[in-house]
Amino acid sequence: MSDTNPNSSQQDQLNARLEQANRQLLQSEKLAAIGQLAAGVAHEINNPVGYVYSNLQSLGTYLEDLFRLTDAVDAGASLEDLSAIKKNIDYSFLKDDLKDLLAESREGIERVKTIISAMKDFSHIDDEEFKLADLHRGIETTLNVVNNELKYKATVVKEFGELPEVECISSQINQVVMNLLVNAAHAIDDFGEIIVRTRCDGNWAVVEVEDNGKGIAEENLHRIFEPFFTTKPVGKGTGLGLSLSFNIVQKHNGSITAEHASAGKGTCFRISLPLTQPEATADSEWG
Ligand SMILES: Nc1ncnc2c1ncn2[C@@H]1O[C@H](COP(=O)(O)OP(=O)(O)OP(=O)(O)O)[C@@H](O)[C@H]1O
Ligand SMILES: [Mg+2]
Repeated sequence: MSDTNPNSSQQDQLNARLEQANRQLLQSEKLAAIGQLAAGVAHEINNPVGYVYSNLQSLGTYLEDLFRLTDAVDAGASLEDLSAIKKNIDYSFLKDDLKDLLAESREGIERVKTIISAMKDFSHIDDEEFKLADLHRGIETTLNVVNNELKYKATVVKEFGELPEVECISSQINQVVMNLLVNAAHAIDDFGEIIVRTRCDGNWAVVEVEDNGKGIAEENLHRIFEPFFTTKPVGKGTGLGLSLSFNIVQKHNGSITAEHASAGKGTCFRISLPLTQPEATADSEWG
């Protein structure tokens, strides 16, 4: 055997090191994803919390005004005095605005609740078991979590078909969908459209993320799944999103491909996942 041909124990060692490096990559990508999420979520929560806070201040002022009125009633004020106070505190405006402020605050709190429940779903990031999962629910969660990155770049159109539950590690599939959505948003210069399409094709679940952004140059199409391949400026992209997505989908015995969008401009990524895993994969541990 020549020097350049490692023997089988060297080969095993190399494989083990490769496996470890791969695990570290997955871990660092998870951390990067969590950091990205945290920033987005902070922004998403900050806005409703901001106006609920300012609504509470207005409500406080309105309450003081109303107490002036009830105190005057208690003190036996005359009808003229009472109507003067009503006029002074702009009672009819106050009555309408109070309802509006309460409705708006309730909406804001609902939004915060939705984001928090999406985060809870998303944070099962270490739950690495294959389980039957509703992919649509995962996609909705992911859309909620990356809403902040998408809303200024694109309208998101959902074209969901009928899908049975899919045997997968849903937190990891969420991560793949998140990478595709963020990439799609990055590919759009001003404002565009991102379509998330699902369908069932025999024993396969198919998820497509299509954008009408700047597209992928023909000569790069076969390189995008390589680790560290990026066309983004230094410091902007690590070039790991798609290679990790590829690994995740591969471990699910599925496939991920990219092609030019059918509309002529942009890119369509397609993930195909088997509805059920061959037994050996589902039983084994990895991560
Ligand atoms: N939807 C898309 N439209 C156009 N180009 C894309 C799209 N998705 C990926 N690419 C290309 O593939 C490259 C690799 O993508 P990948 O997600 O792996 O890394 P990245 O986005 O550059 O960095 P990050 O590690 O932060 O995700 C991108 O730099 C970009 O050139
Ligand atoms: Mg990316």
